[in-house]
Order: sequence, then C-alpha cells, then structure tokens
Amino acid sequence: MEPVMKKTDVVRAILGERFHMTPSHTVGKAFAPTNIALCKYWGKRNQELNLPVTSSLSVSLGDKGATAEIKIHHEPEDMIILNGESVSSNTSFSKKLIAYLNLFRPAGMRFHITLQSNIPIAAGLASSACGFASIICALDKLFDWKLAPQQLSILARLGSGSASRSVWSGFVEWHAGIREDGMDSHGEMIAYSWPDLCVGLLILNQQEKIISSREAMQCTVQTSALYAAWPSTVNRDLQILKEAIQDHDFHRLGCAAESNALAMHATMLSAWPPIQYALPETLLAMQTVWALRQAGVPLYFTQDAGPNLKLLFLKSESDCVRHSFPAIDIVQPFICN
Ligand code: PMV
Repeated sequence: MEPVMKKTDVVRAILGERFHMTPSHTVGKAFAPTNIALCKYWGKRNQELNLPVTSSLSVSLGDKGATAEIKIHHEPEDMIILNGESVSSNTSFSKKLIAYLNLFRPAGMRFHITLQSNIPIAAGLASSACGFASIICALDKLFDWKLAPQQLSILARLGSGSASRSVWSGFVEWHAGIREDGMDSHGEMIAYSWPDLCVGLLILNQQEKIISSREAMQCTVQTSALYAAWPSTVNRDLQILKEAIQDHDFHRLGCAAESNALAMHATMLSAWPPIQYALPETLLAMQTVWALRQAGVPLYFTQDAGPNLKLLFLKSESDCVRHSFPAIDIVQPFICN
C-alpha cells in the first residue's frame, strides 16, 4: 500500500532546501483578506491535507481580514497574542495554531505571534481562512522563502481549506485538483474586477459555531443522501459564476451564489445527526431579503458555517440595504480604502 501523505511531506516538498533556513529578518508581517465563497467548498476527499471534493470560488473582502506578525521568541513556549490579548497554549485555538507552526520550524524554535483580526472570530466569517493565510505569508517573509502565491496557497490549505483562497484579493477559484499529494489543489486569481459589487456583513449572532466546519463536512459526506448531487451542483454554479463575473451580470451572480449556499445547507439538514447553522434571526433575515427581492430590489445572500449572512448587492442599492438592515457592515471588495 502507498504510504499516506502527511502535511509534513507537503511542506518538505514545497520548501526543499529552504526548510533548513534560519530566519532572515527579525520579524515577518503580512495581511491576508478574509474571503466569502460564492460557490462553496463542502466536503473533503482527504482529511489530512484538506483536499476538497469539488472546486470553489470566492471573493476576498478588501481590508477585512487578519494581520500576522511573527518573531523568534527566546522562551520555552510560543507566545500567542490574539487581538491584543495573550491566549493560553491549551485552548483549541492555540493548539491548532501551534500544530500548524510546527510544520515549518525545527524542533526547539519558538515564535511570538501577534494576530490582529478585524472580523469576529469563528462566527462563520472565515476568520480561520485569513488567519492561516496571514500566518503563512508572515512566515514566508520571516524566513525569506520567496514562495510563489500558488505554493503559499497550498501551505495555507494545510491550516484550513478555505485559507487557500485568502492569498489573493478579488475573485479566486480554488481548483480541487486530482493529485493525491494535492500539489494541483490551490487557488488561482480570476483577474476581473467589479468595483460596484458590495458584500454586506450581517452579524446576527456572535456566538461560537455549534459544530466545526470540519466535523460538519465529514458528517454530511458520510450520511447525507443529498451529498451525491453536490458535485454536479458545484460544476453548474461555478460555470455560471465565472460567466457572470466576466459579464458583470449581477442577477446571475446573485442567483447562483444564493442557490449554491442553500444547496450546501440542504445537504447538512439531510445529514444525520442533522446540522443547522441558521438561527431564528438568520431565517428572518433571509425572508427580508426575499421580500425585498419580490419588491424589485436586486439583493441576494450567502451563508457559511454559522448563523450570519453576507448580502450581495450593487453599490446603487446601498441606501436601501442599510435602511432594511441598519447594523450591516458594507464592504466593496474592489475599492481600496
Ligand atoms: O476552510 P474551512 O474548514 O473553515 O471550511 C469553510 C467552509 C465554508 O465556509 C462553509 C465554505 C467555504 O467555501 O468557505
């Protein structure tokens, strides 16, 4: 039997001789935007390497994301500062982060990591995506590896699947790939800009997820009869989204994104035990979107592994959207602030 590929094998294959480099700089600092999938990644073909069953497509959220700053720490343990507060090493957050950092450093090397995020952690706003992407880009700077974005994308994926899309701004497609080692499973920038496109972050509840996306995906793949239809749904939606982006056809983009998110959640509802990330306030907000659409407002939503919604609309509808959702945080992914 073929030996099972481990994360460390992927890291060694990408870094090669660079694996033994000592840090060239005293500090490595990088920002990575969070990304919102318009066509979702749901289901892994390889749990260890976070290889997806299907490709996916996202839009990065401009200056919403995480900044990581990493230095060598001359102490027996890593120091992790998250949004200004030190995090104990026995939290699940630290354990996941330390396990990730261990992939890239020789035994005994310790880091001082400062992670500053301007989005709520673990509320289904892809905080882990920008977190891992910013960490790998900061390590690249600290060690002066000078990796190509696609290599950074593969390494970010080892932390969290969706992080593979957070290495770029704008629209990004994450190719599922077919290789066992995942070397063809990375993001690729879609070089189209859409300045009028808006994403509204509708934070309806800040509580931590009821179930991690990893566990929820696994349960869905193993138990949901509807999952069999997911790959063909994705193929159809990816095609429509790419055409809509190229043509700036907002209606097609919105329909495909909303329908794709609902199809993903339908696979979860039909899993056993059933998984539902929506809360009553989520359903109410969806109904408001549908009522506005009925009244002629071109407004759509997407939802990830959490109760919050992201609304999709064009700049011309901003006032109307703000009027119906006063707490909304509006991002124009293609406009620099
Ligand atoms: O990368 P993860 O393990 O956090 O999973 C992300 C899953 C979704 O956000 C629901 C979909 C996606 O494509 O981002």
